[in-house]
Amino acid sequence: MTRKNANQLVVALNKGRPLTALLKVLREAGIAPSESPESSRKLVFPTSRSDVSLLVLRGGDVATYVEHGIADVGLLGKDSLLEFPGQDYYELLDLGLARCRLMVAGLVDEGPLPRRIRVATKFVETAKRYYAALGVQADIIKLSGAMELAPVMGLSDRIIDIVETGNTLVANGLEPKDLVEDISARLIVNKSSYKTKHSVISDLVKAIESSVARRDGASG
Ligand code: PRP
Repeated sequence: MTRKNANQLVVALNKGRPLTALLKVLREAGIAPSESPESSRKLVFPTSRSDVSLLVLRGGDVATYVEHGIADVGLLGKDSLLEFPGQDYYELLDLGLARCRLMVAGLVDEGPLPRRIRVATKFVETAKRYYAALGVQADIIKLSGAMELAPVMGLSDRIIDIVETGNTLVANGLEPKDLVEDISARLIVNKSSYKTKHSVISDLVKAIESSVARRDGASG
């Protein structure tokens, strides 16, 4: 498949950390990719359903593809959605999967903070909103990864980053300071697709909802 077919449902998935859990929930909803996106270099995958194909993308790009209606449905981390507050999609489900926290972190032995702090992060929009809401003056420094290095090397006073186990913070002499937001995987749907493909999309949403409810029931 190279271009979108009007009868085809395109589902975009967040690669990286959430991918395994997202594939599992889709499999339970009756959609299995033709080969494993976790080991293949492909980006588009036919599935066990001839009318459904999968795209595997970075979280922010999942939101962009859904916003533009190229993907009908997106499954992605809330951290990516916070950075991409679009107008053309609905956030329909909290899957409760791939849970982690978006935290402010800093050095365990940090000294007094300057009046205007420097914060390194890849979550630039979220960081701006967070400090604006607090009324704290902050210079946001955009990084693409390895945020933990910034306070260690003196690039920033604090970071805003994903914390799951906390091991990466500890390994670099950092500690969590404040919670920005609890994060989990979400299901989003393009607004126009939700009208034109309502039946197939609501069936998929219901199947995913049941799979999530079964899992919650089993673990609760
Ligand atoms: C994330 C995050 C931290 C780490 C936290 O990076 O940026 O570095 O995981 O996890 P922990 O609390 O369990 O140690 P990830 O490995 O997802 O890669 P990324 O830098 O591409 O986001």
